[in-house]
Amino acid sequence: MATRDAGAVPGGWQVQRIRIGDTDYPYYYGIDCLDLVLQELAALDTDLFVVVTDDTVLGLHGQALLPGLRALARVEVISHPPGESMKTLPVLTADLERVLAAGATRRSVVIGLGGGVPGNLAGVIAALLFRGVRLVHIPTTTTAAMDSVLSLKQAINSTIGKNHIGTYLPPYAVFTDVALLATLPDRELRSGLCEAAKNCLAIRPQTLPRLRAVLADGELSAPEALLWLLDESVRAKSSVTVNDAREQRTGLVLEYGHTVGHAVELADHRRRGSDGVSHGEAIAFGMVVAATIAHRRGWLSEDVVQLHEEVVGALGAPLRLPEGITVDTVMDVVRDDNKRGYLPPCTESIAFVLLRDLGSPAGDPELPLVAVLLSEIREALEVVQERQPVLTGADDNGRAELG
Ligand SMILES: NC(=O)c1ccc[n+]([C@@H]2O[C@H](COP(=O)([O-])OP(=O)(O)OC[C@H]3O[C@@H](n4cnc5c(N)ncnc54)[C@H](O)[C@@H]3O)[C@@H](O)[C@H]2O)c1
Repeated sequence: MATRDAGAVPGGWQVQRIRIGDTDYPYYYGIDCLDLVLQELAALDTDLFVVVTDDTVLGLHGQALLPGLRALARVEVISHPPGESMKTLPVLTADLERVLAAGATRRSVVIGLGGGVPGNLAGVIAALLFRGVRLVHIPTTTTAAMDSVLSLKQAINSTIGKNHIGTYLPPYAVFTDVALLATLPDRELRSGLCEAAKNCLAIRPQTLPRLRAVLADGELSAPEALLWLLDESVRAKSSVTVNDAREQRTGLVLEYGHTVGHAVELADHRRRGSDGVSHGEAIAFGMVVAATIAHRRGWLSEDVVQLHEEVVGALGAPLRLPEGITVDTVMDVVRDDNKRGYLPPCTESIAFVLLRDLGSPAGDPELPLVAVLLSEIREALEVVQERQPVLTGADDNGRAELG
C-alpha cells in the first residue's frame, strides 16, 4: 500500500506504521480525506466489502462512503442498533452466516465503520471468516480512533462479562477522517479524549503543555485539535506495545486509572444503566485517585496531583465519585480487578499502575505494576472525596464548566 505524508491539511493526510510485536500496519489520518480512503481501498482488489457498522453511523456517514465503495466491488452492509448488544455470540453467528451467504471469499475485506463496538464485531468476523480475512477500520469515535484500532485485541461479550470471547488480529489498515468525528455527541467525544489525556500523563509528558493549551481553548472538537490528539495517541500507544502485542507487559501502563475507574464505571452502570459515567470519564477519575495514592507514598508532588485534576476537570470528567456511589461501593467492586494474576496473590492488596513521576510508571519497566493495599485505595478515595476542586467554575460533581 502506498504511503505518503500530505500533512494535516483538508483533503490531505498522514500515515504512520503501527508496529505491535511482530506485526505492523499503516494508520492513515487526516481531515476530509474519504477520497483518499477510497483510492487505497481500490488497491485492495477485493471481490466483496463487508461493512460492519451501527444504524447511527450508517445514517450519518453511510452516504459519504458507500456509493464510492460500490463503484469498487460488491458491498454487503451489516448494521445493528448501536451499543454493546451487537457484541454477542447470537449476533456474530447470524452475521457470519449472512456474510457467507453473500458470497464472501478469502479475498473479501471486512470494514469496521464506526466506534469501538462495530469495530470489535468486525474484528471478530474478519478473524473467523476462512480463519482470517483482511480487516480495515474506519473509526468514527475518539475511543475507536485513538484507542481500539491501535490494538490487535478483537472481542465480543459473553453473558458473563465484557470482551470474554475474542482473539488477536492486526488490521490490514486503518483510515481515520477526523471530519467524521464532527457529529459525535460531546459525551462520546470527551470519553475517548480522556484516554488520550491518560497517554499524555502516563507515557508522553512532553505533550502536556500542548494538551493544557488545547483544553484551555475548549475547542476539543476542532479537527486540528483532534488530529493532534490522534497523532499523540498513536505515538504513545505504539511506544508501549511495540514489543508487547498482547498488552501484558510494557503495555500495562495503558491501564493507568483503570483499576478504580473500572470499579466506578461498573458501580455507576449497575445503578444508573447507560446514564452512568462513560468509560473515559471513569478512567479519568481513576487517574486522580491513582495520583493521590502516589502522592501519599511520597512519589508525586502536590503540583502533579493538581495537574491531574486540572486535565480531568477540563475534560468534563468528575473529580469526585458520582452521586449515589460511595467509597464502600467502589471498594466492593475494586477487588475483582482484571489485573489479578500479574503479581503474587494477596488478599490485602491489588496490582495497580502508579506513577513515580509523569511518564514514569512505578515497578519493573517490563511489568509496570505495584501492589497497592486496599486500605491505601480507600484512604485515597476519601481524600479525593473531601478535596476542594482546584478549578474555578466546577459544578457540584467537581466537573469543570467549559465553553
Ligand atoms: N480492542 C480494544 O483494545 C478496545 C479498546 C477500547 C475500547 N474497546 C471497545 O470499544 C467499545 C467502545 O467504543 P465506543 O466508545 O466507540 O462505542 P460505540 O461504538 O458504541 O460508539 C458510541 C456511540 O457513538 C455513536 N457514534 C459513533 N460514531 C459516531 C459519529 N461519528 N457521530 C455520531 N455518533 C457516533 C454510536 O452510534 C454509539 O451510539 C467497547 O465495546 C470497548 O470494549 C476496545
